[in-house]
Amino acid sequence: MKIGILTGGGDCPGLNAVIRAIVRKGIFHYNDQFVGFLEGWRGVLENITRPLDLEAVKGILPQGGTILRTSRTNPAKKENGLESCMETLRNHGIEVLIALGGDDTQSVSLKLFECGVKVIAVPKTIDNDLSGTDLCFGFDTAVSIATEAIDRVHTTAEAHNRVIVVEVMGRDSGWIAIYSGVAGGADVILIPEQPFDIEEIAETLKHRHDRGRYFSIVVVAEGARLANVSNEMERRKKDEFGHVRLGGIGTTLAAEIESRTGFETRAVVLGHTQRGGSPTPFDRVLATRYGIGAIDLAHAGKFGCMVSLKGNDIVSVPIADAIARTRYVPQELIDVANSLHEKHATPVGKS
Ligand code: F6P
Repeated sequence: MKIGILTGGGDCPGLNAVIRAIVRKGIFHYNDQFVGFLEGWRGVLENITRPLDLEAVKGILPQGGTILRTSRTNPAKKENGLESCMETLRNHGIEVLIALGGDDTQSVSLKLFECGVKVIAVPKTIDNDLSGTDLCFGFDTAVSIATEAIDRVHTTAEAHNRVIVVEVMGRDSGWIAIYSGVAGGADVILIPEQPFDIEEIAETLKHRHDRGRYFSIVVVAEGARLANVSNEMERRKKDEFGHVRLGGIGTTLAAEIESRTGFETRAVVLGHTQRGGSPTPFDRVLATRYGIGAIDLAHAGKFGCMVSLKGNDIVSVPIADAIARTRYVPQELIDVANSLHEKHATPVGKS
């Protein structure tokens, strides 16, 4: 079988492990041939490819990034974009296309599937917010990096009697914030699911310092929002999938906390450090399982489906269902975080 592979959207530790697993099982067990499309959908749209054989995937298991590179190109936004993609696939004799990406990338997969292209999807986002799967590879790595950063700022915050605000990724959901915040013992965790009141955050910190603590750690997801304040983000430039570039809430929050409490406050924005570097062993294994699942789905003829982790099993779900909703942080996890703090305070947003 001749199979095309692409990686779209933001990169994610473990993408190379998925590619390696697909190519190795495809060649060793199914006698497949592969074509790598470069830079996400741009490669299919503009016919930019690279060979993808055993030599190409040699040594990539522990590497971050993606050997196929990536972009946020949206063919559906270009004139005759989907038709151009189909023409490229036809010209290469591609029988199945495996697309690694989040909801944006998979929205294009779905459109092409509806046009008759045999597509298999692999879920990818460090944000961990795809509803069609219980866990995305790359999330564990991002949480590990964020937790290590929180541990590090803890000691310097304590040494200086400071509040330190750590801004982590998480556009629509606060998975990284709540996991790293709980793992790192943060005093306040702010997530997009629950807009927060800055006065309440300041009161929470004052209360903590009144009972003898002289430093605090606040973890905020980049997509967290202030309650009752019109969203300045709406005015920012959007990408081809309609998303604004986030980042900056941590710095704003630090200034607001300092002016309301009088506590010296600093902000640390982790940004793309969370997406870079080598995947954790857990993510390497999960990514490998997703890759094997994807090539098996291709040979089982389950097109229009996404590989998915349900519980501890690799299964498949229709792409349409997988991208229908955002997967938010459940109340149970929010309750866990809130249980660790003073009863009157509302450290995880407003409940
Ligand atoms: O892939 C998801 C994500 O990491 C979001 O958390 C973040 O807002 C966005 O990507 C950043 O994208 P870019 O790499 O284009 O700045």
